[in-house]
Amino acid sequence: MGNDINLKTFVSDHRKRIDEALNSFLPKSTVRPKTLHKSMRYSLFAGGKRLRPVLCLAASEACGGDFANAIPAACAVECIHTYSLIHDDLPCMDDDDMRRGKPTNHKVFGEPVAVLAGDALLTLAFEIISSTKPNKKYNNGDMVKELALTSGSKHLVGGQVLDLEGENEEINSRTLQFIHSSKTAALLTSSLKLGAMSVGASQKKLSSLEEFGQCTGLAFQVIDDILDVTQSSETLGKSAGKDEAVNKATYPSIHGLEKSKKIAEKLTVKAIDSLKPFKNNGKRLEELAHYLLDRDY
Ligand code: IPE
Ligand code: IPE
Ligand code: MG
Ligand code: MG
Ligand code: MG
Repeated sequence: MGNDINLKTFVSDHRKRIDEALNSFLPKSTVRPKTLHKSMRYSLFAGGKRLRPVLCLAASEACGGDFANAIPAACAVECIHTYSLIHDDLPCMDDDDMRRGKPTNHKVFGEPVAVLAGDALLTLAFEIISSTKPNKKYNNGDMVKELALTSGSKHLVGGQVLDLEGENEEINSRTLQFIHSSKTAALLTSSLKLGAMSVGASQKKLSSLEEFGQCTGLAFQVIDDILDVTQSSETLGKSAGKDEAVNKATYPSIHGLEKSKKIAEKLTVKAIDSLKPFKNNGKRLEELAHYLLDRDY
């Protein structure tokens, strides 16, 4: 698929494919234990933006491959992301009542099932990614390792721990950048890299995507922090103003709103710069970087 269709169509077409594939990978809600499978499906199909899987498919195409090979990776990163949100919302973490425009998982299913639905989605992600068709450069083990590293204690989970430990603490801007890069940019980066790996992309392209992902991923969390201040809960589909209420260190709390937006813009410019090796094939990723920056929820 080339860049001839517009971004909106590109995103909605890929979202549809991802939803269909997720539906087929997930156990039906009639399968025992029904409550668990209902709970997993509740959060997964609550209306997330599907940005990580869309980036995954876009990266596979930017590398000149067939996005169909990247479908398992795209679904796997969305399962990891959704699990991380279910746990992020728990009373022992951010204690949120609303997610993706609906009551949070634990509000509907209770805390024990919400914890276990998160665990099951995390585990399912690895089952799904191990079904990727191997190619000349990468086998399933390489894909599993990439996803495991990014989801683990040195990245996503570690970032979440530091984020919680940072509440009511004086955090400097370097530490905040480290937290945001770990909890958010890492999975976004792996989404891109796994898309590329699924189609056997060169090391040079993977390195470019790594840089692109780290910059857009950090910008993404900076914008998330900004939107928490500037938008309504209705627009966000999750409770606004939460970060300030619990005295969380964020980009706006350290740098102010205006400077935070400038930082996100600069990161986006840097991200786009890293796409040079892709020449014209990088156009879609460039559009997506702007889309992530300019979003209002
Ligand atoms: C929210 O991510 C959590 C962050 C890492 C900031 P998204 O804004 O992508 O959430 P969904 O998937 O659309 O619900
Ligand atoms: C969450 O960051 C990052 C994750 C890894 C889930 P936030 O706590 O800021 O995400 P929201 O604002 O609740 O979506
Ligand atoms: Mg959080
Ligand atoms: Mg949160
Ligand atoms: Mg937030």
